[in-house]
Amino acid sequence: MALVTSKEMFKKAYEGHYAVGAFNVNNMEIVQGITEACREEKAPVILQVSKGARAYANHTYLVKLVEAAVLECPEIPIVLHLDHGPDFETCKSCIDGGFTSVMIDASSKPFEENIAITRKVVEYAHDHGVVVEAELGTLAGVEDDVKVSAEDSSYTRPEEVEEFVSKTGCDSLAIAIGTSHGAYKFTAAQCTRNAEGILVPPPLRFDVLEEVSRRLPGFPIVLHGSSSVPQEYVKMVNEHGGKMPDAVGIPEEQLRKAASLSVCKINVDSDLRLALTGTIRQFFDEHPEKFDPREYLKPARAAIKEIVRHKLIHVMGCNGKA
Ligand code: G3H
Ligand code: 13P
Ligand code: ZN
Repeated sequence: MALVTSKEMFKKAYEGHYAVGAFNVNNMEIVQGITEACREEKAPVILQVSKGARAYANHTYLVKLVEAAVLECPEIPIVLHLDHGPDFETCKSCIDGGFTSVMIDASSKPFEENIAITRKVVEYAHDHGVVVEAELGTLAGVEDDVKVSAEDSSYTRPEEVEEFVSKTGCDSLAIAIGTSHGAYKFTAAQCTRNAEGILVPPPLRFDVLEEVSRRLPGFPIVLHGSSSVPQEYVKMVNEHGGKMPDAVGIPEEQLRKAASLSVCKINVDSDLRLALTGTIRQFFDEHPEKFDPREYLKPARAAIKEIVRHKLIHVMGCNGKA
């Protein structure tokens, strides 16, 4: 199967009350870990590339890695998506360069400007058979070189979504309901602590999600900043020379609930970084004499595969849906 758009994927996900996993890719091991899990679990998948990933690995290398995954996994549908496209030019470059989906993220701009930029990207993308994700509302956290503090974040205003979608023609909409980018999603002051001393974050705003869905029936909603920051990997990092105190994510059962509603795409990046980093740190701690990258990248790739498998089954619910 060639690369596909997310059109059909989202229709099935919406009707089937599950979400498709969207995982960020930066190198070969990450592409392999994700797609091996998806192939074994018969899950559709979105492989997404940020501006930072393109700067790090080069557009062509990433496209060719994803094309290799398509050849290796002919049984599953794969989308190649631009994550947080910052402007029209970046979106155009990805549309011209083989992507099947782009995100234009003009969510930091005033409403009318967000509409105008998104509309321009949609026109170009649709003329080229590519779908577009847009965003309304601002997430807290770090994405690429942009850092948004909790005070500057804002929930999506449900009363704006119908006008935004009808004026832009976007194919899916990312909304802000309390998720946040990175491994430190909430400050200790925003959380309570459970009996083990682990931070418990404030619940997602399901009232906002439900009102958005009521206003946009059948329309696919996207959640960014949806890593759950598994504490076993935070512990692994910290036990092997790392320092990530109070890293906290979104509880999985809340993401699962969102997936059973109108959320059709759930973005996960930080959890893969944690699995990769924890595994490599542990390897070096246990084998200080080793220096062959294949030896430490092999268990790191296997850890990514297992965390993705876990997400597909327990968070997205998209296993068996390819
Ligand atoms: O939302 C941002 C993603 O986690 C991508 O991160 O910009 O560091 O590649 P990055
Ligand atoms: P996390 O930082 O929670 O993994 O979110 C990733 C993301 O939203 C990519 O766009
Ligand atoms: Zn994001």
